[in-house]
Amino acid sequence: MPHTISGFSKLSKSEKIEWLLNTYFTDKDSARALVKQYWNTDDKLQKLHDEFIENTITNYYLPLGVAPNFLINKTIYTIPMAIEESSVVAAASKAAKFWLDRGGFKAEVLSTEKIGQVHFIYKGGFDKLEAFFKNVKPKLISDTASITKNMERRGGGILDIQLRNKSEDLPNYYQLHATFETLDAMGANFINTCLEQFATTFKNEALLFKDFTGDESNISIVMSILSNYVPQCLVRAEVSCKIEDLKSKDIPNPEEFAEKFKQAVSIAEVEPYRAVTHNKGIMNGIDAVVLATGNDFRAVEAGVHAYAAKDGTYSSLTHCSITDGIFKFWIVIPLALGTVGGLTSLHPLVKFSMEMLQKPTAKDLMKIVSVAGLAQNFGAVKSLTTTGIQEGHMKMHLMNILNQFEAADTEKVTLIEHFKTNIVTHSSVVEAITKIRESGNFK
Ligand code: MEV
Repeated sequence: MPHTISGFSKLSKSEKIEWLLNTYFTDKDSARALVKQYWNTDDKLQKLHDEFIENTITNYYLPLGVAPNFLINKTIYTIPMAIEESSVVAAASKAAKFWLDRGGFKAEVLSTEKIGQVHFIYKGGFDKLEAFFKNVKPKLISDTASITKNMERRGGGILDIQLRNKSEDLPNYYQLHATFETLDAMGANFINTCLEQFATTFKNEALLFKDFTGDESNISIVMSILSNYVPQCLVRAEVSCKIEDLKSKDIPNPEEFAEKFKQAVSIAEVEPYRAVTHNKGIMNGIDAVVLATGNDFRAVEAGVHAYAAKDGTYSSLTHCSITDGIFKFWIVIPLALGTVGGLTSLHPLVKFSMEMLQKPTAKDLMKIVSVAGLAQNFGAVKSLTTTGIQEGHMKMHLMNILNQFEAADTEKVTLIEHFKTNIVTHSSVVEAITKIRESGNFK
């Protein structure tokens, strides 16, 4: 088989790069230079990044932008966002400013419970298993004492463990379904360590349980793992104002705007094809902040989308109402976030982001992230129902195309001016650059 290699992880970083260059690249010198161009000149900082994962060869940059003027409850925040999509930070900033003048965002944490499960196979009667579980439950908790000590001292820990009978879904399948409070930690390590201890205790104690006979005492642990579905770790964010107060440069007719906006949200509530894109726009804001604050955006994505489908049909995460002349727009989402542990104490830019956010607790961060999602969705749906999305999008995209063509600053100024009154498409930009270059005015 061509291009396979064994022992790759044991090679030094340079050896790994040389193997890649020799295996895949024709212009090895350029590829090597590119990889090294992205190394940090500070060896210590580079080593830190190298050690986040295995087989690191270089760094992959994403822009870290900021969206200022977010009024959340009574605090003003500048929100850090790590994202590549051109229009996202601009849209967030615009939405923040819009609502700053209209009372800002209100956010509240509704619950903070995390979940983990031990999945196991048991061959016997459920009554006996229930009796065993009752008997062993105190020991399940006490055997984790050394793991939970610190968390308990701070006010968190294991909330409960339940036995769940899943044998109707899958023969002989049962669970220990445990709930946790992990305070400012996202809690994955804490939860998984507790679960693995539950599993060990559960299996060992089953062997000693006097009422089990034959196969019954031989419980087979399949796996122990936290769930990224956290429907009891919810945050709600909201904006509202009188309909007439929506009036602005972009919204000359607030009544019409409010109605159309509400219709757009209602469509996302009933139509999964639209809901997915609607929610994707929400995640533009959410992921960017989750990433900038060193949290696990894959966990957040998985949990949020599962929540969007909780009633059996994939639906909008945001909702809108117009009652007694008041426009209200809100989001409810599950977010398991941490502000201590993990990358939060390791990545220098994450520390920077946390300081910028005034050292938030996990609950504060849940509020900030949900607001970023709501603001992003407000911006997207506002554009979609008024000017259309392409106007703003392509203006931001213009810069990417100009950079792709290595436009000089003077060319950029001229072309940005030109496209204030002309439609941006990839080909129209290419045509305009070519024209400028052929006329010999620049460069
Ligand atoms: C693009 O990244 C996100 C949008 O498609 C979201 C939406 O349609 O609501 C603009």
